[in-house]
Amino acid sequence: MHEKVENQQNSTKASRRSFFNKLWIFLGFVAFAEFISVVGAFLLPQKKRIKTSNFGPIIEAGPVEKFPLDSVTAFIRGKFYLSRLEDGGFLALSRKCTHLGCTIPWISKEKNFACPCHSSAFDIRGEVISPPAPRALDIYHV
Ligand code: FES
Repeated sequence: MHEKVENQQNSTKASRRSFFNKLWIFLGFVAFAEFISVVGAFLLPQKKRIKTSNFGPIIEAGPVEKFPLDSVTAFIRGKFYLSRLEDGGFLALSRKCTHLGCTIPWISKEKNFACPCHSSAFDIRGEVISPPAPRALDIYHV
C-alpha cells in the first residue's frame, strides 16, 4: 500500500514537472516571437500613412459638391478650416489666431471666426474684422 502511494506521488510530480517544462518552452517561443517582431518593426521601413508634398501633408477633403457655397468646414485632423466662398473658390485657413495662437472656432450664425482669448474676429476669408490680431489667418495650399 505504502509503495503504491509513493508511486502515485512520483507520477504526479513527474507530470507536474513535464507540464512546467512544456509551459517554459511555450513561453520561450512566445518571448522569441515577440523579440523577432520588435526587431523586425525596428529594422523594416514604415509605410507612409499620410501623403506629403513640398508644402506638408496632403489631406483629401472629398468631392467639391460636398461643400456648399459660403460655408466653412473644420478639418480637425489637418488643424484647418476649409472655406467655400460665394464665388465657388476654396481657402484652407489655419485654426490658429494670429494674435497669440489660440484656436479659433467658426461661429456660423455670425459668419465669422471669433477668438475666445482676446476677441479678435476674422471673416470667411480669414481677414481681420476685429483686432488685436495683427494680420489675417494663415492660408494653406488647396
Ligand atoms: S489669441 Fe486670439 S485675440 Fe489674442
